[in-house]
Amino acid sequence: MQKPITEIIRQRYSCRTYQDKPIDEGQQHLLLNFLGSKSAGPLGARVRFALVAATHRDRQSLKGLGTYGFIRGAVGFIAGAAERAPRDLEDYGYLMEHAVVLATDLGLGTCWLGGTFSRSGFAKKIAVTAKEVMPAVVVVGYIAGGSKFRDWIRKGAGSDLRFPWESLFFNERFGEPLTPERAGLYAEPLEMVRLAPSASNKQPWRIVRVGDVWHFFLQRTKGYGKGSLLFRLLHLADLQRVDMGIAMCHFELTVRELGLTGHWVIDEPDIEKPDEGTEYTVSWRRAAV
Ligand SMILES: Cc1cc2nc3c(=O)[nH]c(=O)nc-3n(C[C@H](O)[C@H](O)[C@H](O)COP(=O)(O)O)c2cc1C
Repeated sequence: MQKPITEIIRQRYSCRTYQDKPIDEGQQHLLLNFLGSKSAGPLGARVRFALVAATHRDRQSLKGLGTYGFIRGAVGFIAGAAERAPRDLEDYGYLMEHAVVLATDLGLGTCWLGGTFSRSGFAKKIAVTAKEVMPAVVVVGYIAGGSKFRDWIRKGAGSDLRFPWESLFFNERFGEPLTPERAGLYAEPLEMVRLAPSASNKQPWRIVRVGDVWHFFLQRTKGYGKGSLLFRLLHLADLQRVDMGIAMCHFELTVRELGLTGHWVIDEPDIEKPDEGTEYTVSWRRAAV
């Protein structure tokens, strides 16, 4: 990456209006090299990705997918497939977001699209098998002039909004907010989680620090996501688990850039969860110094 990760993350937004211009070969090459080098996520699921050029038909089929937002002029997509595994969607989100960060660093615009992709033309292009899932794809291309402002208006200005720290990050237990001052060196990685993209901007990530360990929880949005009428009707994947993988990616890339070391572990802490919609995902354990 050329720029600091914090700068890249601050620069990224969901771009929905693109120039009708194919991605430069050099940039395609960099993206393809990166995508080809990733075959498994940090939680062990096997994932593969491809860069696909968008045909006129793809653009039309996007309109029929029933996801919100309108993408104009998309020329390329990053599509992928994860082999079904306990944490396949988190790993998919993690690796795909890493590609988003790289594309942003290359000056490209991106937008995640969650949809019924497992049976779509996109799935056929990369021959998704019955053992795999394709919960989302990412549009990638050159940002059209004025796109950020137009997209902002179109999305009802809500997508720049993020929950405050006290709703997302906690010390030792839920209900005990963690301030940036108390987070110390980890304030920046947490802030980068806060700025992450999430399906419908629901920001379902919650993080509780217990000692040296950062525990990631999914706070399911009521009436949205897995099991909801909307998701059943549209056959959407459990996108909030993809959001968790995205948050893990922002956290880890920032932590590593700060020179802090650690690794992901599955080690649910014995703390009370706020409600039945709160699910443990994973923990980041600081390496012993
Ligand atoms: C898993 C996932 C699925 C998404 N699906 C869509 C989609 O189908 N259509 C769309 O326009 N935006 C989609 N988005 C983009 C979100 O709406 C966007 O990330 C959020 O509103 C925050 O805005 P920002 O990305 O500009 O910061 C998706 C984002 C994620 C992470």
